Amino acid sequence: MPKVFIPKERLAGETRVAATPDTIRRMGKLGLAVTIEAGAGIGSSIEDHQYSDAGATVGSNIEQLYAEADIVLKFHPPDKHNDMPKHEVALLKQGATLISFLWPWKHGETIQQLAAKGVTSFAMDQIPRISRAQKMDALTSQTNLAGYKAVMLAAHYLPKLFPLMMTAAGTISPARVVVLGAGVAGLQAIATAKRLGAVVEVSDIRPAVKEQVESLGGRFIEVESDSSMEDAGGYAKEVSKEFLAKQQAVVAEHIAAADVVITTALVPGKPAPRLIPAETVRKMQHGSVIVDLAAEQGGNCELTKSGEVIQDSSVTIVGLENLASLVPYDASQVYARNVLAVVEHLFADGKANFDFSDEINAGAIVTFSGKVRKEVS
Ligand code: NAI
Repeated sequence: MPKVFIPKERLAGETRVAATPDTIRRMGKLGLAVTIEAGAGIGSSIEDHQYSDAGATVGSNIEQLYAEADIVLKFHPPDKHNDMPKHEVALLKQGATLISFLWPWKHGETIQQLAAKGVTSFAMDQIPRISRAQKMDALTSQTNLAGYKAVMLAAHYLPKLFPLMMTAAGTISPARVVVLGAGVAGLQAIATAKRLGAVVEVSDIRPAVKEQVESLGGRFIEVESDSSMEDAGGYAKEVSKEFLAKQQAVVAEHIAAADVVITTALVPGKPAPRLIPAETVRKMQHGSVIVDLAAEQGGNCELTKSGEVIQDSSVTIVGLENLASLVPYDASQVYARNVLAVVEHLFADGKANFDFSDEINAGAIVTFSGKVRKEVS
């Protein structure tokens, strides 16, 4: 019976876990024996006894647990942590399967080590965005929650309410929210801000997005663009300096009138486009809030400090990373279901099936049979 192991995530501030009692029960039905490290779920409010009630063994001898595991399920790429005897790659069993985020272009050395160890590594971040793979799509499941949390953080820092309120003491006007970038995170931010009663305006460079924005009740800020702004995969392309300058000028007027700006604009493989220069921030109203979800990729706002919440000329700029880990219970529930879908895909009937004519395997399996399959740059 293949053995599955789920270690505790050790990255500072990480609260998520790659399995829940529900996914453990379902792995048991596939004929897999599951072990989880003691305390792995506590950051997500899942206690060890809930895992053992679901059929998992709970253990704490990390070297032994890794050495016995045929399949390891994780959130972050393997690393060396202070409380571990060795690097996580060194702990993995020769020929094991690892399912985790890997970001191969950022972690070339780790990928080479995984290949040298004969590990089959499946990168959650490399799953092609095709309909069949939607239930495995952890980028979407986590980004969606980050869009929600961005609005919650904005509401927390804003000295105003979001909804229109008619009170005996007078009418309170609704907050004005501008969302820049209407992909997965942006669309969730629009829906959440609308549910809270805000007036929402949105800018994106992909014309196809306008209809989605309007169906959520957002107003689309028109900046002349065309279909060449979108690549074959539906992602935005990098735009020219001239276009960015035009876009900045148009959105600046809306930002100056806004209470909250949520920025989510990204171009795959490139630094985040700079949409809010410092002078635009300084024209914003006293007490307004920017939540920059692109902080980790350099920020959509010039003043964002990645990992920090700062004040600049009375504007609060939230550059916190990994917002989904601030809603760990649900982030782990959906991530664990994404990982379970991968396990079901790779180990139907409990047996490994690494068929590379399958588009999902071809896209997401980074190392196999001692080699790096995908170009690591
Ligand atoms: P992303 O995280 O790469 O980018 C976020 C948004 O920023 C995109 O909407 C992009 O157009 C926008 N953006 C880029 N430059 C901008 C600029 N200068 N100004 C304003 N906005 C700018 O994208 P995400 O959220 O990963 O989704 C990209 C596409 O993939 C979408 O069409 C989405 O619907 C699609 N998708 C498809 C899935 C599937 O079929 N399984 C799953 C998830 C997403």
